[in-house]
Amino acid sequence: MSSQLKNYYYSALKYPCPPNLNIWWNMGSLLFLILSVQIVSGLLLSVSYTSDELLAVKSMNYILRDANYGWAMRVIHMGGASLFFALIYMHICRGVYYGSYIKNPHLWYSGVTLYFISMGIAFLGYVLPWGVMSYWGLTVITNMLTVVPGGTRMLQLFQGSFIIGSVTLKRVFILHFLLPFVVLGLSVVHVLLLHEKGSSNPLGLDLSNFSIPFHPYYTSKDLVGFAFGLAILVGLAFTFPKVTADPLQWQIVNKAQTPKVIKPEWYFLFAYAILRSIPYKAAGVSMMFLSIVSIAVLPLLGNRSKTQSMVICPIAELVFFIWVANFMFLTIVGGQEPAGVWVMGGQIGTFVHFFCLLIMPLSSLAWESLLFDTQE
Ligand code: HEM
Repeated sequence: MSSQLKNYYYSALKYPCPPNLNIWWNMGSLLFLILSVQIVSGLLLSVSYTSDELLAVKSMNYILRDANYGWAMRVIHMGGASLFFALIYMHICRGVYYGSYIKNPHLWYSGVTLYFISMGIAFLGYVLPWGVMSYWGLTVITNMLTVVPGGTRMLQLFQGSFIIGSVTLKRVFILHFLLPFVVLGLSVVHVLLLHEKGSSNPLGLDLSNFSIPFHPYYTSKDLVGFAFGLAILVGLAFTFPKVTADPLQWQIVNKAQTPKVIKPEWYFLFAYAILRSIPYKAAGVSMMFLSIVSIAVLPLLGNRSKTQSMVICPIAELVFFIWVANFMFLTIVGGQEPAGVWVMGGQIGTFVHFFCLLIMPLSSLAWESLLFDTQE
């Protein structure tokens, strides 16, 4: 190990942390753990997978039935993807609730980029088993490109042909294989950025004079988190391996028959509901894109110094819980057939999503001026 790396390693162990970090600060290290599990299980799956339209399903069956522990790798990889997104959502909610984005906006932007790339990886991974949802999901999502100028040409370049086929599947596989390493590298940058300005804390106070070293206090706490995280992953993968997968995903692609309901995995349903709630394609695609990247604007809206954490802002706290409940509501809406009351439900949910994101930082700002400016 070079001496520079050694020095960084030792200083990372001594990294000064606030003494009051709660369980929500465990999610970052758990994300690292699950990312590693996904990379290892993905590498093992890829040695037996074939990215050809006619052979993909055969190779998946080979993995499930013949390859040594192939079935275990497959269910761990599937469950790991769900757990990874559950952790990302909790990690983002922690950042929003405790105002972590105020202390270090660059760290926040690196997180949003990680979220975005991770979504791409998960979407590409869903295509690989070449089930009914793989094909039709890819068709729906890649067709969104046609709303941007030159999009049709870009779509053909990506597909490698006028239709989705073996060439497309090969490209999807290559991207799904490579991008996790980009996420791994960017996650390291993410933590280096964190170490530049230090962690925030549940009270949103400057506790730099009361810090404790990362090791042994938080190494031990993270290890407990790892034990729980692995237990949940093993429980999910081996007890309910198909709980999140659409039953249609186990059927072979039929290009001639569009399924009645085309829907993605649970972690994309909120965005899918927003996409479908607007009857105009270009507007729907733009709103869906905005709903994902809208968390990026939070640092621009909430430059406050005393009410970082919502623990002391009751109105913002209420809006935050409405925002989280609305996310769950949109997730339910996204899984339904887009007809009748669900269409209006999606439209209301879309409005509430953006409204809450705007009101949360602004009400904290108003609360700060009410509480502190009058006293000073
Ligand atoms: C691959 C995905 C990610 C990984 C591996 C990762 C990893 C980490 C780790 C290890 C930490 C320190 C421990 C902690 O505070 O939990 C951290 C902190 C942080 N992350 Fe992430 N993260 C990821 C995604 C995100 C996303 C999507 C966001 C937000 C959009 C984000 C925003 C933050 C912020 C603001 C902090 C600092 C919290 C503080 O001030 O204490 N991260 N991340």
